[in-house]
Amino acid sequence: MWTSFAALALFAHSTAAQGNMLRFACSQLVVDRVDPLVNPGMIYTPHLHQIVGGNSFSITMDPTNHDLPAKSTCTSCSFKEDLSNYWTAVMFFKHKNGTYKRVPQVGNGGPQGKLVNKGGLDVYYIPSGKVTAFKKGFRMLAGNAAETNPSKVAKGNICHRCWTSPNEDQFVGSAPCTGTDTVDIPADPKCKMIRQTIIFPTCWDGKNLDSPDHKSHVAYGQGSGANGGGACPSTHPVKLPQIMYELMWNVTTFADKSLWPTDGSSPFVYSMNVGGPAAHGDYVFGWKDNSLQLAMDKNCNLNRDCPAAGLHASQPAEYNACTVPQQAPEEVDGWLKALPLGDKAVKA
Ligand SMILES: *[C@@H]1O[C@H](CO)[C@@H](O)[C@H](O)[C@H]1NC(C)=O
Ligand SMILES: *[C@@H]1O[C@H](CO)[C@@H](O)[C@H](O)[C@H]1NC(C)=O
Repeated sequence: MWTSFAALALFAHSTAAQGNMLRFACSQLVVDRVDPLVNPGMIYTPHLHQIVGGNSFSITMDPTNHDLPAKSTCTSCSFKEDLSNYWTAVMFFKHKNGTYKRVPQVGNGGPQGKLVNKGGLDVYYIPSGKVTAFKKGFRMLAGNAAETNPSKVAKGNICHRCWTSPNEDQFVGSAPCTGTDTVDIPADPKCKMIRQTIIFPTCWDGKNLDSPDHKSHVAYGQGSGANGGGACPSTHPVKLPQIMYELMWNVTTFADKSLWPTDGSSPFVYSMNVGGPAAHGDYVFGWKDNSLQLAMDKNCNLNRDCPAAGLHASQPAEYNACTVPQQAPEEVDGWLKALPLGDKAVKA
């Protein structure tokens, strides 16, 4: 009863309500100051990321020869066939005494009632009509890590929601990036969780697996929101599955204004030391063979086994156990004197 209500509420007013989609948990592979898409070959990149997915993740991942499914021996995501890597910035709480602590993350039950994540995020692949899955070597970036102006960010694609319930499985609000959702990170002691949504473009130029800014080879279709994306422009005619990242930042222990900075600055910042407008997501495609195309064609649903496409869902104990060591070793947990930022960068 509850589950079907949540599913309906989540996708009310969206075409996804009529069809199936993949929606699954990805636990943290590592929290590390690396970024093979934007800063390949570098350790101690300008800011910290959390990475999920296949364990072949490395600082270079040369698109011409890094075969993710062949090189990975496990994935921190539910589907065994998905050796892709997904990463985002991490959120920190800024205490009035000047120290910082990384905000813990939980899965979001949503239509499944429960998703078990050890940190990390939930990933969606939402088809709208016939879609063409990403090709080997494909990668892209959504959002801009340097953006500070909320009016320059499309709220329909990148947004935050104040979750007044202390339980992630108690659905709050309507479809993602609608209603009272904001581009900025909400700063309100009523928020027990902050849900962050990052929706990727769904239209591809059909030629380039990447582009210098990691964005120009793709474009958003008409409309916005978690509905698989609307019609594609003639410059980017190929319809892709819509990738959406959903992150639940559990701010329950920080929802106490007496702990917050007294200068009026936000108690929550991303690892670039800026707010919600700088939220961004990176994607490096790495599904085995044509498994993603089959998953879309055969209407595979949520995080369930899907024999028609050869998809196998693993148990949390298995995907939670897939981790890699930091390649830029530094302290990222506990109270930190300063954010892990700065020009410590060392070429590997
Ligand atoms: C800042 O506050 C936190 C939380 O109360 C505490 O654990 C930490 O020791 C404090 N640090 C400093 C430098 O006062
Ligand atoms: C969120 O954090 C609070 C405080 O630590 C904890 O009691 C609660 O169980 C957490 N919620 C989830 C869904 O893990």
